[in-house]
Amino acid sequence: MRKYLMAGNWKMNKTIPEAVALSQQLCNYYNRDWDKVDVVLCVPAIDIKAVHTVLDFDKTDIELGAQNVHQEPSGAYTGEISIPMIKEAGCTYCIVGHSERREYFAETDETVNLKVKALVINDVNAIVCVGESLNIRDNDRHLEFVTAQVRAALAGLDADDLSKIVIAYEPIWAIGTGRTATPEQAEEVCAAIRATLADAFNADAACGVRVLYGGSMNVGNVESLLSMPNIDGGLIGGASLDANSFKQLIEAAAHASEE
Ligand code: PGA
Repeated sequence: MRKYLMAGNWKMNKTIPEAVALSQQLCNYYNRDWDKVDVVLCVPAIDIKAVHTVLDFDKTDIELGAQNVHQEPSGAYTGEISIPMIKEAGCTYCIVGHSERREYFAETDETVNLKVKALVINDVNAIVCVGESLNIRDNDRHLEFVTAQVRAALAGLDADDLSKIVIAYEPIWAIGTGRTATPEQAEEVCAAIRATLADAFNADAACGVRVLYGGSMNVGNVESLLSMPNIDGGLIGGASLDANSFKQLIEAAAHASEE
């Protein structure tokens, strides 16, 4: 039985005082019901330390993630941050290959794979993002495209490494647009992702991997998305920037896990 994972992706939002206020509000809402769900906040690099201090002080099980890292442990890479840096600052997760990084920052299947391998070696959970453009979907090539992204991202890993992997299926046309994939559309791709993992590794390992949906997940659609057998949570952008709406999504997941 997979535990739901609800991951907030704050993207490039929240100064340090704003980040402290938002994480503090979430800690105030936190209750034992949330233990039925894994909750992660993927925050801007500059906010990591301050948010960690809040989460640590309040002794919640809310975990912390970065939104990107460099694959090298240190060196002459101006402007980058390393896995040892995010780990030391309190991160147990890191998003890799978000479509915005692929589109605006030249992230490729190859760099995604290097980062995923480096995270796994360093025992940090990787939230690997995949997803097709509207053009690919309109040409009915979405399954082929997304499963190829999954294979490329995880090339060179062993079945044992999958315990450190989360896949987030985020159709690009649904991100920040208010246009969500229907539960059936999302389930079709998430099921294909799991079948790909079973084929590339083995069925047992594939069964344990959490496959998230992302793209305008909100209070109105969370329940129907999470009712799908291969959707194990959400990677949530806009709706994670407000404590009350993110809380409602977490509670919906806690409720869904009882069914
Ligand atoms: P959204 O973003 O929920 O605002 O669509 C999701 C994401 O890009 O991770």
